Formats: sequence, C-alpha cells, structure tokens
Amino acid sequence: MSKPFYITTAIHYVNDVPHIGHIYENVTADVIARYRRMNGDDVYFLTGTDEHGQKIERTAAKKGISPIELADQVVAAHHANNARLQISNDDFIRTTQSRHRDGVYEIIRRIREKNPDDIYHGEHSGWYCQSEETFVPESQVTDGKCQDGHPVEMTTERNYFFRLSKYEKPLLDFYRANPEFVKPKGRFNEVISFVEAGLRDLSVSRTAIKWGIPFPGDEEHIIYVWLDALTNYISALGFGSADLSRYDKYWPADIHLIGKDIVRFHAVYWPAFLMAAGLPLPKSIVSHGFWLRDNVKISKSLGNVVRPDEVIDRYGAEAFRYYLSREMVFGQDSNYSDESFFTRYNAELANGIGNTISRASKMCETYFEGKTPPLSCDDNELKRAAEETIPVWTREMDQFAFQRALEAVWKFLDAVNGYIVSREPWRMFKENGADDALSRVLWNSLESLRLAWTMVAPFMPSLSAEALRRIGAGSEPPRVELLKWGLLPTNEPLVTGDALFPRIDFQTYVAETKNEGATVSEPIQDKKEEAQPAAPAATAVAAPAAEAVAETAKITIDDFFRADLRVAQILEAENVPKSKKLIRMKVTTGDSERQIVAGIATKYTPEELVGRKVVIVANLQPAKLMGIESNGMVLAASIDGEPSLVAVDQNVPNGTKVK
Ligand code: ME8
Ligand code: MG
Repeated sequence: MSKPFYITTAIHYVNDVPHIGHIYENVTADVIARYRRMNGDDVYFLTGTDEHGQKIERTAAKKGISPIELADQVVAAHHANNARLQISNDDFIRTTQSRHRDGVYEIIRRIREKNPDDIYHGEHSGWYCQSEETFVPESQVTDGKCQDGHPVEMTTERNYFFRLSKYEKPLLDFYRANPEFVKPKGRFNEVISFVEAGLRDLSVSRTAIKWGIPFPGDEEHIIYVWLDALTNYISALGFGSADLSRYDKYWPADIHLIGKDIVRFHAVYWPAFLMAAGLPLPKSIVSHGFWLRDNVKISKSLGNVVRPDEVIDRYGAEAFRYYLSREMVFGQDSNYSDESFFTRYNAELANGIGNTISRASKMCETYFEGKTPPLSCDDNELKRAAEETIPVWTREMDQFAFQRALEAVWKFLDAVNGYIVSREPWRMFKENGADDALSRVLWNSLESLRLAWTMVAPFMPSLSAEALRRIGAGSEPPRVELLKWGLLPTNEPLVTGDALFPRIDFQTYVAETKNEGATVSEPIQDKKEEAQPAAPAATAVAAPAAEAVAETAKITIDDFFRADLRVAQILEAENVPKSKKLIRMKVTTGDSERQIVAGIATKYTPEELVGRKVVIVANLQPAKLMGIESNGMVLAASIDGEPSLVAVDQNVPNGTKVK
C-alpha cells in the first residue's frame, strides 16, 4: 500500500511574471515530489496562483486591463514555465476558480458553526501595508514604512475580525507538541517568539477593495486575501464540494513549501483558522531562503531580475534545475550569478557527469562491440564507494539538504573518474585486449554511473532517463530499490547519442547576450580579466627570462610568476594527420577553452588523454604547428625525448593556478 504524500508550494501572486523565486520553489517542490515517488509514495503535488487583492487590482489598473485579464496572462506564463521546467504537479489551483471560492465559503461556514464568536464585526484603524496586504503594528512603522520598507497607509475599516487572540495558547501548545512543525528550526523560533509576544485579532474582510471573494452574507466586504489564499491548500482537494475523496486521502498536507517571508501566515494564521474550523493542521511548514543577484535582493524595480528563460533556452531546463538545487544551501539565501552558473555547468555537468558517461560508454563501444561488458563484478572499491554514498544521499534528501545530496553524488563521480584514470583501460586493451579484467573495470564504471544517474533523477529527470537508457540500464521509472550495486545487465546494447551537456564558452555567452542587452553584470567580467592576464604583456618578458636562465641559472620569483601555469582538463584529442608526434587537443581551464598542439603522440593515444588533467602554460604567445594554431603548452618531463605529462590530482578544479 503506497502512502499518500501531499506537497504544496505557495500560490504565486499574479501581479508579476514568474521570477527565479517562483521557479526555484516549483523546482524544489518537484524534486521532493519526484523523490517521494521514487520511494513509492502516492504523491499529490499542488501549485497555483494567488489572484486576488489590492496589489493585483492596482497593477491591472496601471496596465489598463482588468484584474482577470492580468491574471490570465500571468497564469499562461506560469503554465509555460512549469511545462518547460518539467514540473510534475498534479493540480494547479487559481483562487479565481469557483472550486476555490466554494472551499473558502466552507471554511468560514465551519468556523461559524464550531466557534460562533470567532468571527465578529468591529472597527479597526491602523497602518496598512498594501504590499503585504496586512495591518502593521505601530511599533513596526518608521517614516511611513513597514519593516520591509514598503509604504503604509493609515486605514480605518469596519470589518469582520477573526479572534486570533484566543489561539495564542492553543498554538503554543501545538508547537510544543510538534517540535518539527516549522523547518528550519531558526524560523520556528521566530514564530514562537512572535506568538509569545501576544496575538491581536485579525481583520478578515476589506471594504476598500473590490477584487476578491465577497464575504458570505455581507457582499460589501471582500474576504481578506490571506484567509482566501491559504484555503487553496484544501479547496484544491475538493473541500467545499460534494466529493471529499481527495481531501480525505491527502489532508493534512505533509509539506507546505514556502519562502521565508511568509512563514508567519503559514505557521500562525493558517493553523489558527484550521483549529477554529475543527480541521487537522498541516504536518510541516518547510521554508526556503531567497535568491539574490550579485548579493542584492531580486526585485523588478532594481532591474536585476534574472532572466531564467534565456539561460534555459540556451543550456536546458535541467541544467538550470541542477544549478538551483546545487547552489543554494537549503534554507539560506543564495546569490545568483551567471558566472557561477557557467562554472558549475562546465565543471560539474559538461566535464563532470556528462564527460564521464560518454567516455566510459565510448570505451565499451570500442572494446565490447557497443555492449555493456560481459562480466560483472561484486567486490571492488567502486562498490564500496557506492555503498557509502547511497545512505548519505538518502539522509540528505530526507532533510531537504539537496546541495549536500548532490555533493555526495559528485564525490562519488570523482571516485569513478579516479578509478578509470588509475586502471587505464585503454592500456589494458592495448596490452591484453578485451579480457576479463577489462570487462570488470568497465562494468564497474558503468554500474557506478547507473547509480549516480539514478540519484540525480529527481533533479534532472529526462536527462537521467536518457543517460540510463544509453548505458543499457533500461527505461523503468527511477526507484530507490534500484540503488543497489549489481543491477546493470551484462552484454546489453548501448545507445549512442550527442553529448548530454554540450560545453559552453562563457566568453561567447557574454558577447552574445551583451548584444541583446541581457543581465550579465559587469563585475563578472572584471573578475575574468584579472584571472587571465593579457597575453602580450606576459609574453613580452618571456624571452629575456629564458636568456637569464642560460646566463645565471637563477631567476627571481617574479620571473617565475610571469608564466601563468594552470590546471586544465583535456576535453578532446586527436592525432594531427601526417604527423607522428603531434596531437591536437581541446582543453578547458574551467571558464574558457583553447586548442593546444603538443608533441606527445609517441607516448600517448588520444583516447587515454581525454578527461585527463594536465598543467599548461596559459599565457604563451600563440604559435602554429603544421599549420594548426596552438594556444599554450602542456608541461611534460622528457626522458630521452619521450614525454611524460606532469600529473595533477583528478579532483583539482580546472583553472587552478599552479605555483
Ligand atoms: O507571497 N527567492 O506570493 P509571491 C526565493 N501569494 N523565493 C522567493 C523570492 C526570491 N527572490 N521571491 C519570492 C505570496 N519568493 C503569496 C503566497 S500562499 C497561501 C500565498 C517566494 O508571489 C515567496 O517566499 O510573493 C513565496 O513562497 C513564493 O515565492 C510566492 O511569492
Ligand atoms: Mg512576496
């Protein structure tokens, strides 16, 4: 019997197009939903839009359209975004739908039935923050602004009130009995302090606003937007309709996933409304941090809005999903920058998980006729590494520590790469052909990749399915039961295809998007120029320095530092036609790629070079070798003219300076 699991995001205001915060929230909820499905749960995943209130009324008026027209436009954008980001929601609620209005009427009816005094009519004057759609206590107003810096207006209304003060003690009792109710803990403590400081009754209707659900029995009033909005979590399940089957199955919610700015509404008001209506409370409120851009809060007025559409158009939705999950320490704020996106994309996706799988499958193609190797293996260092990784991944996924779950997978991938490099399957093949030992080495590598790609399935669902199909692991939906060493079939045909993550040249991206006026910030470029001294300045001194060596056999440290030595990774390698010595390589230093031609073919085959880390002189003047341009030099020792590449640990990041 599979366990019902109900997860919701906040419903997003339609006064603005979807932004990175909305995308992040949907992606994160989707990662959780997919992970629960991998565990066999019967998941119901809800997202949607919050379409009422003064903010939306005013934005629509400014645009000269009706609120519902504005909402329809923004909802269309949400649907398009969710589709391309592969958000697997089961339902999408709009607060303008009649099923939602029925749910709101039903919760008010239940409150009035259970606790007839909890909603009363009274007068209220106070500072009203329109941006947050809430009254703000006098103590929190400075210079006509609320604590978040939004302007407040003195407002007097005869309203309906909810007797929130009555729920002070019941809420504190509930918090004490449910110490895991709000995550992370720090935010829960803030909630508890807020309630301990005393709760005032809450006005739950407005007369100044027209755009909303009319108050039952008094249509001059509109229902307070938060009472309206929070009820979406049950109206979407059919609460208020004749069919309560989904409500009965999925309520109370397992997780309300929300941003840190709306914890109070979810952890104080919502439980109080539910208590008053005699309904069960949600099991947990999980709160994430905010995305900043270049360390400034993202807002439309600041003009620093990230345009995820552009990044997704060029590099794929799944790379973006990966980035959002890997970059943000769950619960904390995080900084978006194009530079960090490209660095992670190239290092962790293109040159990391992508390159490892194409390398391992290519060898199986050549050595084992395009099939998984004929022999499996049940005792080796990769099996042990996998068995250490899987429980860590599971534990971190369960705690929403996605960045650490992914870190564990990439540490495992490093072990896989290290294993391939140390076993040198290309040499094994050269020396002994496709024997049992080679079969085991490559089967171990592919089996590890099967496990790694299964663990990344919640983050990159389609690419994971494609990768698994390519290495002969079948096309079953991912399940945690498959995270067990030994399941990759032997002699199974591989499927070939294009690179899963085509590499990006950051310079090209900057050049292209700059022309389009996109939001690539200046500081990123400054940093890049610092990191790569201009070639002419450095090469001008290279020759005298060499002479100095001959004369005195000593150079100063400054002389040495004129050579920009960098760790680079070989991405492509091929023999230069008609040359016995030369190999043409494409290498990456993390944020840029270059071509280098080197005389190492007498010792190395192109195959064994790909993926290898080397040390290069990065600021060497370009030269032509047999008509092919070479930008830099690979360091190697020379033993009677036979080169031996200077080795560097496989886990040193590309671009690291060598000194
Ligand atoms: O608050 N980074 O809607 P909303 C991360 N309608 N998350 C962000 C963010 C950012 N820069 N900006 C916003 C509302 N969010 C109400 C919710 S629920 C019954 C009603 C998050 O469109 C924010 O914290 O302003 C919230 O969880 C969600 O996006 C929607 O914000
Ligand atoms: Mg907001």
